[in-house]
Amino acid sequence: MRVLIMGGDGYLGWPTAMALAAKGHDVHVVDNYLRRTLAQQTQSEALMPNPNLHDRAALFRSASDAEIGVHIGDVANYRTLEHIFQEFQPEAVVHYAEQPAAPYSMIGFEQASLTLNNNLNATLNLIWAVLEHAPDCHIVKLGTMGEYGTPNIDIEEGWIEVEHKGRKETFLYPRAAGSLYHTTKVLDTDLLWFYVRTYGLRVTDLMQGPVYGLSTDESDLDGRLLPNFHYDDIFGTVVNRFLVQAVAGVPLTVYGKGGQVRGYLNLRDTLQCVELAMTHPAEKGQLRILNQFTETFSVNELAERVQRVGNEMGLDVQVQSIDNPRKEKEEHYYNPVHSGLLDLGLQPTYMTDAIVAGMLEQILPYKERIDTKKILPRVRWK
Ligand SMILES: NC(=O)c1ccc[n+]([C@@H]2O[C@H](COP(=O)([O-])OP(=O)(O)OC[C@H]3O[C@@H](n4cnc5c(N)ncnc54)[C@H](O)[C@@H]3O)[C@@H](O)[C@H]2O)c1
Repeated sequence: MRVLIMGGDGYLGWPTAMALAAKGHDVHVVDNYLRRTLAQQTQSEALMPNPNLHDRAALFRSASDAEIGVHIGDVANYRTLEHIFQEFQPEAVVHYAEQPAAPYSMIGFEQASLTLNNNLNATLNLIWAVLEHAPDCHIVKLGTMGEYGTPNIDIEEGWIEVEHKGRKETFLYPRAAGSLYHTTKVLDTDLLWFYVRTYGLRVTDLMQGPVYGLSTDESDLDGRLLPNFHYDDIFGTVVNRFLVQAVAGVPLTVYGKGGQVRGYLNLRDTLQCVELAMTHPAEKGQLRILNQFTETFSVNELAERVQRVGNEMGLDVQVQSIDNPRKEKEEHYYNPVHSGLLDLGLQPTYMTDAIVAGMLEQILPYKERIDTKKILPRVRWK
């Protein structure tokens, strides 16, 4: 298939591009280096060096013989995206091109405004580029499990049937995001739903949990093909922060009581899920929502696991609870459905001790580059 990957320089975009190109798809990526720019501005650079997209594509070509087309440009600019659509005529688009850090979106007005404008405009432009230039194209959009929040009832896969005064109707499952970033994802979903029901677009919205891991079949070919790995409080996920703290010999910082439960998945499973969604497209006029994670655990359970595995490897890993910079429930019910992707054929990769040990091994050679000041919370939900 001809696949356009929006946000192809990112943590998920780059490994997705390599994986799809290696399978013989015709892959083109677009990115404006927003992530690299914001990381520099907030002193949150990635732990390992990442060559620019043109260099990565050239390195990948020599390692695998597979081609990835590269375009440096801003998809929040409609003319840029329109031009790419006219030239490339994608059959599927994987849309990763958003500002994805909750803490970044909570720094202040400028950051909130950038996040809202960038994310909503990227999605609106994609919708219009499809409508005007490739109406059959399947949009595979990355949403987040954070759209649902942590309600005190089971979380369904995107939709819920409501019975009210004896009548029934199916609605988008209620959303209650915990940051401005997550709220932009809720707005994206609503925007897509409007255009799906009004213009008959075909869309898959993947409600993804936090992704962990650096190893994929393609990134293992050459260390310079690794995806970006951020470990700071702004762009790093809790898994990355804990792994780096374990290696650096500083305590793993659990926010508050540590009972926050989320659905996680391995990077290799993101690649599977996106390809499964792409090769089993939604119908025209369908907004298909799939909850994309493979297992749930609490922050405390994650900390205990990293501590146990780290100590077995000879590291001295301590765990410390700190004041929670976020406004979130620290103990709550959490039971989200996630059968749609399993039904499509997803083979889960669970976070075993061996996987945790493998990630620690990958970080150890970069120990001297770790700046522990970047890990403690610099942003608070005021
Ligand atoms: N990584 C996760 O754990 C996770 C979990 C749930 C959802 N998601 C979603 O998946 C997507 C990708 O996440 P990621 O972790 O790879 O983030 P990332 O920041 O590493 O990648 C996003 C990429 O999009 C690019 N981009 C942003 N705005 C752009 C624009 N206007 N024009 C061109 N390029 C632009 C950035 O430069 C970056 O390279 C995001 O939409 C995010 O919300 C990620």
